[in-house]
Amino acid sequence: MEFISLLFMLFFVSILLVFLFHSIFKFFDFNPRNLPLPPGSLGWPYIGKTFQLYSQNPNVFFASKLKRYDSVFKTHILGCPCVMISSPEAAKFVLVTRAHLFKPTFPASKERMLGKQAIFFHQGDYHAKLRKLVLRAFVPEAIKTTVCDIESIAKDSLKSWEGRIINTFQEMKTYTFNVALLSIFGKDEFLYREDLKRCYYILEKGYNSMPINLPGTLFNKSMKARKELAQILAKILSSRRQMKLDKNDLLGSFMGDKEGLTDDQIADNIIGVIFAARDTTASVLTWILKYLGENPSVLQAVTEEQEDIVTSKEKGGEEELLTWADTKKMPITTRVIQETLRVASILSFTFREAVEDVEYEGYLIPKGWKVLPLFRNIHHSPEIFPDPEKFDPSRFEVAPKPNTFLPFVQIQNALLSSL
Ligand code: HEM
Repeated sequence: MEFISLLFMLFFVSILLVFLFHSIFKFFDFNPRNLPLPPGSLGWPYIGKTFQLYSQNPNVFFASKLKRYDSVFKTHILGCPCVMISSPEAAKFVLVTRAHLFKPTFPASKERMLGKQAIFFHQGDYHAKLRKLVLRAFVPEAIKTTVCDIESIAKDSLKSWEGRIINTFQEMKTYTFNVALLSIFGKDEFLYREDLKRCYYILEKGYNSMPINLPGTLFNKSMKARKELAQILAKILSSRRQMKLDKNDLLGSFMGDKEGLTDDQIADNIIGVIFAARDTTASVLTWILKYLGENPSVLQAVTEEQEDIVTSKEKGGEEELLTWADTKKMPITTRVIQETLRVASILSFTFREAVEDVEYEGYLIPKGWKVLPLFRNIHHSPEIFPDPEKFDPSRFEVAPKPNTFLPFVQIQNALLSSL
């Protein structure tokens, strides 16, 4: 009898052990593939939700999905399955804390046009090195002395508008292009300015064209202009080297790198930075003018702040030129810029691609899927920014909560924190 109970006990303990081992094994064999995909519909094969997105205002498309599915949902656009995210926590997850799990992704035609070695298309050491070199050219120490030159470009623009009706965005693009050339090449490359401008303008025209590289197409013209741009840049590089010029502008920063960038890498990144800097800044400047025009009391406050700086310089017998120190006395102007970046959210979202299966909040983001952090929706969330459609610079009197204000994401955030 005792023998039978012992056998029974042994049997019972073995079952328990098997069950325990199975659970432990399952626990350690966690496989994200077993998780559900985020809510949402992928629509028709290949076409997905592309027509829906393009047939309505994108804000309406995103807002309706967010209302239905909350801050993480899946959809399918332009032939790619995507996960859209619109909470500050999710944006931080994708862009900061787990940034290594998501790579930047662009259509191949854009890479060809800007240059495959430009910063946007990379991750890891090469990306980190480029970022350091770009930042080095834009930290306060490097740009302090250019404030008065930028002011004089602004004054020249104002003068050229006198007595004529202007297209604000086009004029802002000319202004920001001139400032970009100053920041990249200093004042020396005057010789090549017109050629640089001509080629860049052709390149830009073809950027959003169909990528068909046949004689006569916009894309083909752009690719030719891009080649010419690289040749002009090669001439500038060679004359700097011959004259042994050591400068602290962006070109100087790229050329001065000890580990050495190749001339092609320098060209791709110069073109890339002009591309990143020009239309974005021109667009924000245009929106600022619009919002100031619509809000006379804000315009009045900004005007008074600027006039105070001019008057105090006159009283102190200082030179009239704007200085770095003056730019620190513009809290109202600064808040107007911040509020414009929030309301206008000129880059509504960015693209990443999951490099492996990723788990987020109990959902699977499969390898190869695109992930789109929707900045505009974060900036227009009534929980984060009450009465979000209202242009109200005073809301920036208190610093926004972390990851809720993301107009720049990366490089410029690093710059702003160094100011
Ligand atoms: C108000 C104007 C601007 C806005 C709103 C803006 C916005 C952005 C955003 C959202 C990104 C991130 C894209 C992504 O990671 O997917 C980015 C990247 C970048 N921007 Fe800007 N930008 C502005 C002006 C500039 C200027 C003036 C420069 C000139 C130095 C610049 C240089 C860059 C570079 C080099 C990157 C790539 C950073 C990296 O990959 O680490 N941007 N910008």
